[in-house]
Amino acid sequence: MSPDSRAPFVVAHRGASAARQEHTLAAYELALREGADGLECDVRLTRDGYLVCVHDRTVDRTSSGTGLVSELTLEQMQELDFGGDGEPAQVLTLAELITLVLDWKSRPTKLFVETKHPVRYGGLVENKVLAELQRFGIASPPSAAHSRAVVMSFSATAVWRIRRSAPLLPTVLLGDSSRYLGGGAATTVGATAVGPSIKTLRDHPELVDRAAAAGRATYCWTVDNADDITYCRELGVSWIATNHPGRTKSLLTES
Ligand code: G3P
Ligand code: CA
Repeated sequence: MSPDSRAPFVVAHRGASAARQEHTLAAYELALREGADGLECDVRLTRDGYLVCVHDRTVDRTSSGTGLVSELTLEQMQELDFGGDGEPAQVLTLAELITLVLDWKSRPTKLFVETKHPVRYGGLVENKVLAELQRFGIASPPSAAHSRAVVMSFSATAVWRIRRSAPLLPTVLLGDSSRYLGGGAATTVGATAVGPSIKTLRDHPELVDRAAAAGRATYCWTVDNADDITYCRELGVSWIATNHPGRTKSLLTES
């Protein structure tokens, strides 16, 4: 937990992704060593139905291969190198990342799982995410505060599906519009937090108080510079996602 109750928790965005290739085991291990309170990952389905931690629709930007994730099998993806300029790295599955988080005994770190393009699959992605969290025994936490997992999406439908199937699991409705996040969408789907970008929050700081008045936390992404970190702290943001978890933790601890 954070040493200062006013300080936001620090979520490593795609791992310590400024220092290591995003979504690799090396990026997540570094984030844990640097003191991250949470790890963020994007998940997509392979052709044969496995959840892998990949941001883009294709593997072109982040691996040695090409093609859509949805058209590759897990085995085909495992033959690619996701290590970029660093050590060679295999694609990370959601199951492997959950294992890493639960095996990390120094602190009860949270995993923030973002579903990408869930609507296209008619609920399949959310169902698979929930099945994975259930398999590891973390889909029904005793309270939101003690949950080891948080599910996030830009899709209100996806958040609604998660709330309906796993009402105790915390959720974040992500968005880049103040009208959307400040309006009724989060209430309608029962999200436990709203997730504006730092740009939206700079333009609409009232989103934090409005969320708090409705009993919701705020998760802000992607917060990489000192001014923005201080700004989020002063506003009372609960979680900040950053590509620099170590530097961010130090800044929050020192100030
Ligand atoms: O943490 C939320 C943030 O990751 C959303 O943007 O494109 O990096 O997934 P993106
Ligand atoms: Ca993301």
